[in-house]
Amino acid sequence: MTGKRAFITGITGQDGYYLTRLLLEQGYDVHGLVRRTSSMPRRRIDQLREEMPDYAERITLYYGDVTDASGVIRIVMEQEPDEVYNLAAQSHVRVSFDNPAYTQAVNADGCLHLLEAVRLLNQRKPVKFYQASTSEMYGGIPGTAPQSETTPFHPRSPYASAKVAAFHHTVNYREAYGIFACNGILFNHESPLRGENFVTRKITLAAARIRAGLQSQLALGNLDVMRDWGYAGDYVEAMWLMMQQDESDDFVIASGETHSIRELLDLAFGAVNLDWQDYVVIDKRYLRPTEVEFLRGDASKARRVLGWQPKTSFEELVQMMVDSDCQLAADERRRECS
Ligand code: NAP
Ligand code: GDD
Repeated sequence: MTGKRAFITGITGQDGYYLTRLLLEQGYDVHGLVRRTSSMPRRRIDQLREEMPDYAERITLYYGDVTDASGVIRIVMEQEPDEVYNLAAQSHVRVSFDNPAYTQAVNADGCLHLLEAVRLLNQRKPVKFYQASTSEMYGGIPGTAPQSETTPFHPRSPYASAKVAAFHHTVNYREAYGIFACNGILFNHESPLRGENFVTRKITLAAARIRAGLQSQLALGNLDVMRDWGYAGDYVEAMWLMMQQDESDDFVIASGETHSIRELLDLAFGAVNLDWQDYVVIDKRYLRPTEVEFLRGDASKARRVLGWQPKTSFEELVQMMVDSDCQLAADERRRECS
């Protein structure tokens, strides 16, 4: 046991699952913020509690919302965590065009509220802060050079603009108050627990469901973009490593490879012996007013300073997701037939 206490916003999300898992294995008590909703969206945390029953007692959840500064500050001051991970976000880029002000409130102001809480607690005891920054901040940078910590930002969505603001809030609190505050600039990372309306999961789930006879078509948007995709389980290790350093800093976390959506389709549909061209249709609803065409990260600073590098290849990631979705499709089929 480390005896350390972590506070995670966004604990019910994809990264929340993998980070909580890692921290429990490291001996932390994990405290998490959950939103009150009518449908209790806690399936990933419930899954974790089932997978790690001996650790279940060490997870404590609090109702709250990062847009509610008073609530966030109260929880942080009462629980006195050693490490705060701000993963909460309206994380869908396309949706941010429909809800720009809400996205700003959650992704930018939410970060500021957490930073204020950390600043106040830091007067009492040392506390470290992690901000979930993103490769989307590079957005419209021209060319195909890999993006690093020194590449300028050019946000191309309300999501990305809000994340740029949060990035700068984090740097400013580090400089102004001397608090340990770091930005992980993470490139796209995926897993079997990825939300179903992100393109990787949408594709692996569709391939599995089409194979199982549960779906006949897959509607997608822009197929011409390139992304640097990694495995979420590997990327949360980088978050934790950043927080174990003596000095806080900002790090790009990426695989260093870039792949097209067509390559992703080839792999996912190939894994179930189908040709995606027989099933994919283009639907304008999934296009974005401004698009991020090309992402490829240079994580050499993380390799040098943190000793971090990804363990899972793109091919292994897609296979892992297809296998998991084939299992889900088989369960769905059994339910339909019973
Ligand atoms: P995710 O699965 O969409 O999870 C987002 C989490 O934020 C969920 O737990 C969600 O709660 C919570 N949340 C949303 N609005 C909130 C609010 N107002 N107050 C409190 N909690 C709120 O996202 P993810 O993939 O795990 O990503 C985690 C973080 O990393 C996000 O900040 C994302 O922007 C950032 N990021 C992700 C990637 C990636 O490729 N995955 C890359 C770079 C950066 P509900 O369950 O109630 O919705
Ligand atoms: N979601 C989605 N749905 N994307 C599609 C579709 C579709 O039907 N068709 C094509 N795409 C394209 C998008 O236009 C985008 O260029 C690319 O696939 C990836 O889209 P997403 O999977 O939605 O991810 P994202 O890159 O926009 O954002 C994710 O990664 C960011 C890091 O770069 C999110 O996880 C963000 O929260 C994260 O910051």
